[in-house]
Amino acid sequence: MKFRTAVLTISDSGSRGERQDLSGPAIAQTLAPLSEVVWTGILPDDQEQIASCLRRLADENQADLILTTGGTGLAPRDVTPEATLSVAEKLVPGIAEAMRAESMRITSRGMLSRGVAVVRGRSLIVNLPGSPKAVRECLQAILPALPHGIEILCGMARECAAQE
Ligand code: MTE
Repeated sequence: MKFRTAVLTISDSGSRGERQDLSGPAIAQTLAPLSEVVWTGILPDDQEQIASCLRRLADENQADLILTTGGTGLAPRDVTPEATLSVAEKLVPGIAEAMRAESMRITSRGMLSRGVAVVRGRSLIVNLPGSPKAVRECLQAILPALPHGIEILCGMARECAAQE
């Protein structure tokens, strides 16, 4: 099954057109064998704008997977995890744990991403850090389990017996 992915880039300068978005394309490229990117957008680091975009994408069932990139760090304007938690129905901590564990093997700065993964309706929402390098590294960590998780979420798979 090829699932549908929406990619939301969160960057103040990107949203003003002052910086080219390289992370959104990096996501599309990394996901290509598994998923079609059906929606892309860029928003500033504004909690309410991010939350309402995530709500709309999930509630209109526009995508099975919603990936955000950026705004997960410690800067005063970084609010992506807070916006994501505000629309969450369920938490999926293992996804963020896996990304941070893999990131820490590459750089100790991996601990500085506060990204979360949550479910809203039939959509899985995952926060990735902002740099294209971090996006690729974090996606590699979770890609092996994503299709099964999404199949279960969509009700297409009920059995978990088959191993990778
Ligand atoms: N994770 C991986 N795998 N590779 C990286 O280079 N960079 C870190 C971290 N996670 C990094 C990473 C850094 S330097 C920061 S500041 C945080 O992600 C937060 O990034 P963000 O604010 O762009 O979301």
